[in-house]
Amino acid sequence: MPLDIVIGSQWGDEGKGRIIDFLAGNADIVARFNGGDNAGHSVTVADQVFKLHLIPSGIIQPQTICAMGAGMVVNPRVLLEEVDHLTQLGIDASPQRLKLSYAAHLITPAHTALDGAEESEKARGQLGTTRRGIGPTYSDKAARIGLRAEDLLNKDVLHQKLDRILDHANRLFENVYHQEPLDKEPIQHAFHAYANRLQPYITDVGSLVHDKLNNHGTVLAEGAQGTLLDLDHGTYPFVTSSHPTAPGALLGLGIGPQHIRRIIGITKAFQTRVGEGPFPTESSGDTAARLRGTGEHPWDEFGTTTGRPRRCGWLDAVLLRYTARINGFTEIALTKLDILTNIDPLNICVAYQSGEQQFDDLPQGPADLSPFSPVLEPLTSWEEDLTKIRTWNDLPSQAQAYIERIETLTGLRIRLISVGPERDQIIDRSPSE
Ligand code: IMP
Repeated sequence: MPLDIVIGSQWGDEGKGRIIDFLAGNADIVARFNGGDNAGHSVTVADQVFKLHLIPSGIIQPQTICAMGAGMVVNPRVLLEEVDHLTQLGIDASPQRLKLSYAAHLITPAHTALDGAEESEKARGQLGTTRRGIGPTYSDKAARIGLRAEDLLNKDVLHQKLDRILDHANRLFENVYHQEPLDKEPIQHAFHAYANRLQPYITDVGSLVHDKLNNHGTVLAEGAQGTLLDLDHGTYPFVTSSHPTAPGALLGLGIGPQHIRRIIGITKAFQTRVGEGPFPTESSGDTAARLRGTGEHPWDEFGTTTGRPRRCGWLDAVLLRYTARINGFTEIALTKLDILTNIDPLNICVAYQSGEQQFDDLPQGPADLSPFSPVLEPLTSWEEDLTKIRTWNDLPSQAQAYIERIETLTGLRIRLISVGPERDQIIDRSPSE
């Protein structure tokens, strides 16, 4: 019966893909519930690195059904490219295994072009979006003029709705952004071809997940992005337009809360952010460069989707306590602990300071963090390479102390610790279930 929900506890890029891949070994369904191809999940199996933007990372495990829920925004071109890529690699991404909710919204070239135009408008101030059309597609959804996957099932409806979206966007291009309008014909043509291929994938994902849970199956809900990018509860306006949180999983799949077993907060051992917005523990210079890596490894801190270098800094326990509260985390999975080897000094932010006052929690949410400076607690790093360690007892005492400090600061147990990108580079402290 259990539903396990995997959520990013920071600003995305916490390493959710590799933890999902690990947990998906025991799952019947892996279901994504928010966002679109703004996400980038990397999963390393032997010498192959799978980079996925839309399709749930669980697809790499052969026994899973993978679903994309109603809360997602899906670019059909990208989806089909991923299907083809996985198929070439010998991974089954057929409609028997991959399901798309009839209620998921579709990203069109009008939405991606609008995202770019809005970002380029200097007066508005840049958010640093991924320019994948995420914001404009969710805007159309809220305005009730969006295109949904179910519209691919009826060519006349598809033509009509797409026409309206393109006309609307073209009016904005001509009158507001002073750009050339989009040529509607090739877009219509492409969407009719997408419809032919995607129709067999479209289904009622909520009912699929519900039935599996009622029949004692295990479902893993895979969040994209992170809690601090949540539209309501993140660092607004520097957020994405969806809900990458545990309640977002229920809403984005179309199920109730009765089956929840674990809510796992995936937390990188340090803090990163890509795009604009507040980041109280951001480091610069040598420390940031060490945390980021050079870009030569797939796990270095450069965006999977955009290639942008990520901003890096110390783990922020104030924000982690906040995201634990928003989501109701039952536990934490800590990723990239191996990167902290030989990082000296090694700091962790335990509270915020504003004037004479110290805060353990955010007095008024995370939108305006400018009044605060982080209270940093120095810890001792370790010299040992962690990448071959598989048990808690083999971890250097300083690494154990770092983990235990996070547990004390959050009141949550850290059950999984990843020490490298490979499938087996995990220390599992779970009680046997
Ligand atoms: P959008 O989701 O493309 O609209 O971008 C809004 C903000 O969310 C920007 O700061 C992006 O960099 C950030 N963002 C979106 N998706 C991800 C992700 O998967 N990882 C990290 N940051 C993301």
